[in-house]
Amino acid sequence: MLPRCAISVCHVFVLVLCLSSAEDFDWTKNDHGSFYYGTFPAGFSWGAGSSAYQTEGAWDKDGKGLSIWDVFSHKKGKIQQNDTGDSSCEGYHKIKDDVGLMKDLKLNHYRFSISWPRLIPTGIKSDHINEKGIQYYNELIDHLLENKITPIVTLYHWDLPQFLQERYGGWQNISMVNHFNEFANLCFERFGNRIKYWMTFNNPWSVAVEGYETGEHAPGLRLRGTGAYKVAHHIIKAHAKVWHTYDTQWRAKQKGMVGISLSGDWGEPVDITNQKDIEAAERYVQFYLGWFATPIFHGDYPQVMKDFIGRKSVQQGFGTSRLPSFSPQEKSYIKGTCDFLGVGHFTTRYITQKNHPSARSSSSYFTDRDLAELVDPRWPDPGSEWLYSVPWGFRRLLNFVKSQYGNPMIYVTENGVSEKMLCTELCDDWRIQYFKDYTNEMLKAIKDGVNVKGYTAWSLLDKFEWDEGYSERFGLYYVDFRNKNKPRYPKASVQFYKRIISSNGFPNQREVENWRRKAVETCSTSNQLLAAEEQRSTAANILRLIHDPLTSHMEMVTEIVVPTVCTLSILLSAVFLMFLLRRRN
Ligand code: NOJ
Repeated sequence: MLPRCAISVCHVFVLVLCLSSAEDFDWTKNDHGSFYYGTFPAGFSWGAGSSAYQTEGAWDKDGKGLSIWDVFSHKKGKIQQNDTGDSSCEGYHKIKDDVGLMKDLKLNHYRFSISWPRLIPTGIKSDHINEKGIQYYNELIDHLLENKITPIVTLYHWDLPQFLQERYGGWQNISMVNHFNEFANLCFERFGNRIKYWMTFNNPWSVAVEGYETGEHAPGLRLRGTGAYKVAHHIIKAHAKVWHTYDTQWRAKQKGMVGISLSGDWGEPVDITNQKDIEAAERYVQFYLGWFATPIFHGDYPQVMKDFIGRKSVQQGFGTSRLPSFSPQEKSYIKGTCDFLGVGHFTTRYITQKNHPSARSSSSYFTDRDLAELVDPRWPDPGSEWLYSVPWGFRRLLNFVKSQYGNPMIYVTENGVSEKMLCTELCDDWRIQYFKDYTNEMLKAIKDGVNVKGYTAWSLLDKFEWDEGYSERFGLYYVDFRNKNKPRYPKASVQFYKRIISSNGFPNQREVENWRRKAVETCSTSNQLLAAEEQRSTAANILRLIHDPLTSHMEMVTEIVVPTVCTLSILLSAVFLMFLLRRRN
């Protein structure tokens, strides 16, 4: 995800590009190929995903501790409309309902995350373990397995216990490595008999850059140029430690796998004949996915990051590079700590070389890369400002992973598209198009030889979208957040995704077109249901409005009129008393 400042820079560049070089720039020179009809390998796993803070709600129930997101979202002005995840989709109370939806979709797997402060309220295992939290995840896991849905678990999807943030500065502090390892070990101990797919972190890029560099995400720190690199360094060490813990203590008995979920946009050179653009695009991907993947697969940061950040740090008068370094022992400890790679991917950028000034005051992750990001104004962008639909970028990213990291086993952990809050349209034709084209590019990548074993649509439900609150909806299922019960309604994409799953791919053009037509037809029933519910809640709101003047009048009587009358009476009595006393004298 791009921070807002970068997005505006992007927009300016788009504009400049449109004005200055619309004629001489050939957008079609990337041959993106046609649709490929065919099926996925047998046993390919289809799923959908969620994360704890985004869906569970129950933020203060049953002994859960506070997370940095609980605290951050309660601060005014941090989240769109000051939304919070306090109740979100109420997933904590809806295990059966939600597993029912997954069953209906015929999912093979469900990806969710475990809330660290729900299990360990302070984050420190020796303080206290919350058995009610353990019980919740036990129920979820058991219910999934009873329904033949494989659980894929993320240990850290951004909700650090607040206590660890306050006491140690969160991921800036190396002590997080041990605390996280203890939490992970507890999860292996309690759930590992049933969980075979573990992921240590979800999208650590976001944790580092948005949490500690730009401050758009919790904990909201703006430690530009240094914070993100330090945090990433500790996260990579924490990941490696947890992998070794599993490897030495649990693997033989539990026979599971431990990976990490990394996000990455694809970066395509603006001019594929220009060496500088080619290198800038490569840098874009190395600073994104490569920042974490290269140490984990090869033991150290990408050379280009070491070169660029090192050189700039010297120019800026720093004694050493702002990018920390690993010792030889650390390198060999970290290298190879990945049984499978989770890939989260949503969008693509065009990249061109752009030198940024090297002033110390402007040092940042973004200026370190010396590049500019552009988008093609013709790319569809139905929802989030940063999310353009560019399916061919997905195939390129997957091939990049194959060639850079020795063709690892891949699970796509996130892929999907959003729409804006006010859109109560369940006939999400654009999402059908997005899933159709992106999964097709993934199929092409598999034909290219990329070892993709599973795909996770993001997300099962509409949910709390971090700093965007509920204003962006990624769900296959629509959630009515205005209703206390948070009812779910299937969007048309549910029907379409279901067909891809049951055919394990795309049989032929006629059939796939039929799926689409039928999906859009059936969604009109759900649309009617939702419209009826909307009418009902609008009527309820009108009643409340009629009722409101009465209530507010009563409030005025009790809160303003009564105290004023009392005070006046006391004053008048005092004046009257004084008057009487004077007369007596
Ligand atoms: C990646 C994050 O992991 C996920 O939580 C979020 O919903 C998506 N990006 C969409 O922004």
